[in-house]
Amino acid sequence: MSSNGQPRVTSELEPIGVIGAGWVGLVTAVCFAELGHEVHCRDIVREKVDALARGEVPIHEPQLPDLLERNRERLHVTADLAPVLERAELLFCCVDTPPTYSGDADLSRVEQVVDEIGESGDHALVMKSTVPVGTGRAIARRRESLGYVANPEFLKEGTAVADFMHPDRLVVGAGDEAASFADRVAALYEPLGAPIVRTDVESAEMIKLASNAFLATKISFINEIANVSEELGADVAEVARGMGLDERIGPQFLRAGIGYGGSCFPKDVSSLKQLAGNSGYHFQLLTAVIEVNELQKRRTIGKLKKHLGSLVGHDVALLGVAFKPHTDDVREATSLVLAARLMGEGANVRVFDPVAGERAAELLPGAEVCRSAIEALDGAAGAVLVTEWPEFRELDWAGEVRERMATPLVVDGRNFLDREALADAGFAYEGVGRRRAAVRTPSPA
Ligand code: UGA
Repeated sequence: MSSNGQPRVTSELEPIGVIGAGWVGLVTAVCFAELGHEVHCRDIVREKVDALARGEVPIHEPQLPDLLERNRERLHVTADLAPVLERAELLFCCVDTPPTYSGDADLSRVEQVVDEIGESGDHALVMKSTVPVGTGRAIARRRESLGYVANPEFLKEGTAVADFMHPDRLVVGAGDEAASFADRVAALYEPLGAPIVRTDVESAEMIKLASNAFLATKISFINEIANVSEELGADVAEVARGMGLDERIGPQFLRAGIGYGGSCFPKDVSSLKQLAGNSGYHFQLLTAVIEVNELQKRRTIGKLKKHLGSLVGHDVALLGVAFKPHTDDVREATSLVLAARLMGEGANVRVFDPVAGERAAELLPGAEVCRSAIEALDGAAGAVLVTEWPEFRELDWAGEVRERMATPLVVDGRNFLDREALADAGFAYEGVGRRRAAVRTPSPA
């Protein structure tokens, strides 16, 4: 092509380049292949490239293995950037931007990609990675010949394929100089039938950070309502139901629990707070959102102590390690803070997760990683439900679990278990912001 941004081949679907085959990159690559595009994907980790070439998906994400299998012919994975640059002009940048100690985002991987692409009049960098507001402008200034389009992702782990295929909206931000590239990016998403927000680069970058920060605020808000409800006798599940029916509020992200985790919310909330701070603005609300989330994790310890007194020498079972169900991701998982805190209190921590056990073993050297929930619960003085994996609800709480545990005590960090049934089986049950379940006395025969 042409440096005016018109595609080289107009009769076929636009070939796509994806840089970084992590969770976002892989979902993006496989889904574009499913939409019929030839996709050229580059990752610097050779083992990952080899695994993908064999048709193996290195992450736990529902639907992804089937979609990869179906589209293997259209998906070309390589460790070398040259063939990607040769075959595709729209390069989706999907490398990670982890937080630094200061709370700023680490952009070194993005910078590396920009350097590797070099001077190019044909290519556009389409930024899917979450970056601070101002990143796009700085890159565009440094590499005038490289088109720059901000296209943040809104995928959720565990439902990422469905989220890609059925988005609420798409955001495409570009300056005037890259408008034709932005048209081409927007055209890729047209088959999905979702509204496309066309805007400038800074606003697109802010939409991403503000959306995650708003959702995290909603969670910290409902967690505080839960904590106050515990004191005042209201039930947060009822409160959330009543609030959520107001269309201006909406029912989503009003599930009280032991705090948000994952690779996105904690990072993006601090990144936005830090970005504001660096510009001279103190973002008070986000400071509180972060603090509430930290304290929420620790309240669980208080709930165990209320029943057990000191935790020294007690076995405590943590059910779930992943930051949420249907993923093996343990980044910023609440379980890690809880386990470390419990060990600090002198408890013996026994953890089980259906898919994230191996990662837990690496990150929690002092904890005992068990092969089943029952093994973790065996002899435990208390159980903490950390991740709402469906199989935890199916456990035989009234039978085998009740028999095996040393003390029938459950702290349900996600308000997930059947508290009436647990109370009936003689468990002391602590939820988050729930009204205490009445212990039903069996009716006379
Ligand atoms: C989040 C956003 O939801 C996505 O839109 C965004 O694209 C993604 O971050 C990202 O920036 O890449 P994700 O981190 O996969 O997605 O997970 P969520 O399902 O949003 O859950 C985040 C955390 O909030 C979890 O720890 C979850 O347990 C917690 N949560 C969620 C609550 O405590 N209560 C709720 O009501 C909802």
